[in-house]
Amino acid sequence: LVMAGGPRGRSYLLARAREIDSRLVLALDMHPGGPAGSERGSALEWARGLLSSLTDYVVAVKIGLPTLMFLGVEGVSRLVRSCPDYFYIADMKIADIGYIARLLGRIACDAGFDAVIAHAIVGREDGLCELVDEMHGRGGCVFSVVAMSHRGAEEVLNRNFEDLLRVSVESGVDGFILPATMPRYIAMARERVGRSAIILSPGVVKQGAAVGSAVRAGADFEIIGRGIYASGDPVSSAKRYASVLRWSA
Ligand code: XMP
Repeated sequence: LVMAGGPRGRSYLLARAREIDSRLVLALDMHPGGPAGSERGSALEWARGLLSSLTDYVVAVKIGLPTLMFLGVEGVSRLVRSCPDYFYIADMKIADIGYIARLLGRIACDAGFDAVIAHAIVGREDGLCELVDEMHGRGGCVFSVVAMSHRGAEEVLNRNFEDLLRVSVESGVDGFILPATMPRYIAMARERVGRSAIILSPGVVKQGAAVGSAVRAGADFEIIGRGIYASGDPVSSAKRYASVLRWSA
């Protein structure tokens, strides 16, 4: 498996999952004063060390806005290119008009990301479908937020689950982000769309869901952040989680 240059599509994600026999995705959320310290250069080194130690257990790395704002797009880009085995997901939770979404997708691809996460709440027309067109045109992927894992998600967002799923499918996204803390949404989405979409599920360990529970409900991957990078021993934590989250199981 080699890095071809531009974004790599979902086939790379699935091939890597098979290769290392894992369904584990790392959420890398860094901030000044966190486990990596407050200085950008040493934080980047810390992240490099972390990523280079987890390649046997972690399939993909989800990098969100805290890390992007702390290390800067340049810094994150250097990190991504220094550990090219992973499938990289930019968790920008894009929720904007198609024109802006395209720009953000382009910036993510140029930085070395393979996929972006976007909200489906913006709708398909002039919205999510534009981002999908941009990312697919570059060989990359879009995952859409169809329900969220925190309690407040039930106030508005998750009540629109059916519409968010429909908008996502009609826009041609590659998969959905669905909450491990509310596995009924995972099961419903899987039943509706079959195996055609990739389901990634956060909310495991720190937010309370048990490791393996989202996959049992129908998810393809579980996303774990603090349970790995803020544990005393990230390598043994990741190894333990990956042994529960086997691709072949
Ligand atoms: P922890 O440290 O709690 O990190 O394992 C969780 C990661 O997942 C993100 N997160 C979500 N993203 N929908 C999303 O799109 C959700 O429902 C959701 N819940 C958690 C969070 O940003 C962090 O990176």
